[in-house]
Amino acid sequence: MLKLWMFVALLLCHSLAVFAVPPVPPVPTDPHSFANIEQVQSRKLTLDLTVDFEQQQLHGFVEHELHRKDPKVEQMILDSRALVIEKVLQANDQGDWQIATFTLGEVDAIKGQPLTINLVSTTTKIRVYYRTTAASSGLQWLSAAQTSEKRQPFLFSQSQAIHARSWIPLQDTPALRVSYQARIRTPKQLLAVMSADNSQNTERDGDYRFVMPQPIPSYLIAIAVGDLHFQSMSEHTGVYAEKTWLAKAAAEFNDTQKMMDVASKLYGQYPWGRYDLLILPASFPFGGMENPRLSFITPTVITGDKSLVSLIAHELAHSWSGNLVTNSNWNDLWLNEGFTNFFENRLMAEVYGPARAAMEYSLSVKDLQRDIAELEPLDTALQLQLAGRDPDDAFSQVAYVKGQLFLQLLENKFGRTRFDGFISAYFQQFAFQSMDTQTFLKFLQQQLLDKYPGVVSQAEVEQWVFGPGLPQGFPTQPSDAFEQVAKLQQAWLAQEIGLAELPSQAWTVHEWLHFINLLPRDLAPAKLAELDAAFSFSQSGNAEIFVAWSRLAIPLNYLPVMPQVKQFLLRVGRTKFVVPLYRLLLDNPAQQVFANDIYQQAKAGYHPLTQAQIDKAFGG
Ligand code: BES
Ligand code: ZN
Repeated sequence: MLKLWMFVALLLCHSLAVFAVPPVPPVPTDPHSFANIEQVQSRKLTLDLTVDFEQQQLHGFVEHELHRKDPKVEQMILDSRALVIEKVLQANDQGDWQIATFTLGEVDAIKGQPLTINLVSTTTKIRVYYRTTAASSGLQWLSAAQTSEKRQPFLFSQSQAIHARSWIPLQDTPALRVSYQARIRTPKQLLAVMSADNSQNTERDGDYRFVMPQPIPSYLIAIAVGDLHFQSMSEHTGVYAEKTWLAKAAAEFNDTQKMMDVASKLYGQYPWGRYDLLILPASFPFGGMENPRLSFITPTVITGDKSLVSLIAHELAHSWSGNLVTNSNWNDLWLNEGFTNFFENRLMAEVYGPARAAMEYSLSVKDLQRDIAELEPLDTALQLQLAGRDPDDAFSQVAYVKGQLFLQLLENKFGRTRFDGFISAYFQQFAFQSMDTQTFLKFLQQQLLDKYPGVVSQAEVEQWVFGPGLPQGFPTQPSDAFEQVAKLQQAWLAQEIGLAELPSQAWTVHEWLHFINLLPRDLAPAKLAELDAAFSFSQSGNAEIFVAWSRLAIPLNYLPVMPQVKQFLLRVGRTKFVVPLYRLLLDNPAQQVFANDIYQQAKAGYHPLTQAQIDKAFGG
């Protein structure tokens, strides 16, 4: 019925087009959303939520201001997942509220449930009263015992890619932007923060208000509640954390302002006002999440030596690539992550020097090559094909590093000055808009390929974007330091020098990582023990070094590392680390029972997203 109606409308539009009605560009549809954004859009939302730690649920309402694209629209479809919908109200522009009828559709394992709300012709606002549930995948509730201070509970959200719908019924697609305000009620002794303005001198009274005036995609709506404290790092930057981490984090990340200044010089003024960091408990499933004005950060990068601060450069870079110009659906994730990795590396070179940036670049390329070797060829193209699949299962280093290398290639070919200009123009022209691969390619064609013919061909571009694997002749950044490490390792393996002769005192974390990654995967047990005795890799407090070492040691069944692996898995929930560790244990027949025992003990402390990934590793 609906289809027939649409068909007639289409025909009508077509015949009208002859009479000079400009065609409306088709809105690219998002395979991971039920929302009917071609007909009606929420452009502004208001949250009023109570954070109930006893029930471990959020309850309250979300109000959406409607923007009708189709004046005749009779229904609004929102995305939802694992929510209890209590009632829906609608209002006209006089503010008269009345009940709206709704249906909650069948559960789709990936997308959740469509919440279809019946509108009357005068409706300008809807208000949905709801509660979250234990299955709300975008929230992690931690008991006091699971926090660093062990005194107060903690809650945080992780909405990217499609989990905002599990704590707010909304149009959950990055094709759309919404501004928001919120009132959040918490236990009095706790502080709530959001991806919005967080005033530094808020009274800690359990009643908090937030405004995010700039329109953002739904996956950037974020909240955290805990025994949080604030420490300023510079006029525009600061850290929120539990007391344990506060001073350490502020010291570790005190170059953030420098990064911001460099970034603003490169690609245009920082568009969001303040930039603060929130240090999450160690169960945070990612390294970082670029929630605007307030990046969420894993504590595993607080090492005391700033060795892992490229994560901050990365999340900060998203303030432009991702938050300002946003991938319009998850097939185009590379437009967020590839640009951001490229931008990140540029920032690292400016702030910490080209030698460090070159090392980080090489390490990334290694990670990419490892991923590509394990992926289906289809998943190694920059533009992904995720329809019918869970985006959480398909993300890899391809979007990040292959995307970065493609942009690096363009920079190398067109020259830095031109390419800087190109990227600035891109951010400026598409600010606060969504971007898909096709539109980007058109812009690239106009701004560079056509202007400077003969430099890069369209076929080359298409091979990078749509083709599998890593194209030959991908750009590299040679690192003298890494070459030195490789040479010395060869000499040690050939028994020409002893470990004491390595200039290891002077090596940075990056050199160590390269050293470990280069070690032969069939190293003799005595050699493993010799290395461990000399450098204590099994005891390393640097998570990157520890995991790199474990990748070598677990398959070789090097037993001294196992208790440490267990400790690590009980303490840390960052998916990037724990999923590979479980996989390695499970691939080693001697450690399968051990892996299972650890998981039974650790599982309750992991984020739902991390649990889902580990369950898959266990074949669940
Ligand atoms: N936006 C991502 C995290 C993300 C991506 C969450 C896709 C859900 C779906 C964030 O910016 C990120 O890339 N984090 C990385 C760190 C980085 C330095 C590569 C991470 O968490 O490891
Ligand atoms: Zn990122």
